Amino acid sequence: MIEGAKDQLSQSAELAIIIPTFREAGNVAELTRRLVDCLAGLKWEAIFVDDDSNDGTASSVRELSLIHPNVRCIQRIGRRGLSSACVEGMLSTSAPYVAVMDADLQHDEALLPTMLQKLQSDRELDIVVGSRHVEGGSLGEWSEQRASISRWATRLSHLVLPKTLKDPMSGFFMMRRDSFMGAVRRLSSVGFKILVDLFASSPKPLKFAELPYTFRTRHAGESKLDSQVAWDYLMLLADKTVGHLVPVRFLSFALIGGLGVFLHMALLSTCLSLMALPFKQAQAAATIGAMVFNYTINNAMTYRDRRRKGWRWWTGLLSFSIACSVGAIANVGIASYLFDHQNHWVLSAISGILVGAVWNYAITSVYTWKRA
Ligand code: GDD
Ligand code: MN
Repeated sequence: MIEGAKDQLSQSAELAIIIPTFREAGNVAELTRRLVDCLAGLKWEAIFVDDDSNDGTASSVRELSLIHPNVRCIQRIGRRGLSSACVEGMLSTSAPYVAVMDADLQHDEALLPTMLQKLQSDRELDIVVGSRHVEGGSLGEWSEQRASISRWATRLSHLVLPKTLKDPMSGFFMMRRDSFMGAVRRLSSVGFKILVDLFASSPKPLKFAELPYTFRTRHAGESKLDSQVAWDYLMLLADKTVGHLVPVRFLSFALIGGLGVFLHMALLSTCLSLMALPFKQAQAAATIGAMVFNYTINNAMTYRDRRRKGWRWWTGLLSFSIACSVGAIANVGIASYLFDHQNHWVLSAISGILVGAVWNYAITSVYTWKRA
């Protein structure tokens, strides 16, 4: 241990609260005030991880740091994502206990001291989850529609999680930093569901307890939950079930490619029957349509985190089209070669398609959607 570190130890935080933020300027001061109140007597720090919100969230947090030195801000530029923000926040602290909570006051801060006590008194426990689905907890004022989506998401989580965990969708929990460090290198870190990710990624089953709380209504600002969150969740589950065999980006790419084939056929038949184009022109139009469709959807979903916008959208379309044209030549070449040698048309076609798809995926992931 560094000399003198022992004397300093008494001043360092025992508990770190990680708060991911995206456009939460109206909430950070009130949340900090409440943390100060309810954590009096404890050694704690709050780490806001903000994805460069345009409403001044980060500067509001920095203003708070002037009054509360145990409050700080990590400002991420050019990145988005609740889970990855939490991971970065947790990695940035030395506190032995780390909690994650939302900035919008929907999570009950009064539960934090009890969570900490529970972890400190039961050395077996890895994590304590704030739960809306154990006795005493509730969803608060949720619409039936959102409650039903949440139930479905919970059911799906049983693909990768123990059923005994009642609220895997919770974004409110506290864990030992050591338990987090055990899982951190295996995390997918995509999307919203950091708790599902942690449970599914830990090398040994996490020992957990659930404590009830009532989900409150949002204080200020708007929810960031949108259809992309649902897609990210499916990608997370795919990664945790088959991700060790096939990269999920490839699965997504192939799935969209499959849809593209349907679109191709629909366009082709329209051009042929309704517009009475000659086959060559019709096939060319359908190919272009399918290519633009594939590019657009992959850009929005598969590579959302590396999305191309403005003029880069157009140059991306160009490199995507070139790559896929070469892929198509490879596809036809391989399929014809196999067909000539084995005379099995289904197998030959599938092999051609597979080689083409892998080629398209590999080349476009490097050239069209290269990591910034
Ligand atoms: N840094 C960062 N980056 N923070 C984000 C991002 C992002 O891309 N997206 C959302 N956040 C922050 C929000 O600012 C908020 O503090 C917190 O993450 C939760 O986002 P909300 O938009 O308020 O989500 P919600 O209330 O619909 O969903 C919450 O409740 C669900 C049900 O318990 C979240 O806690 C979910 O994780 C949870 O499943
Ligand atoms: Mn919220």
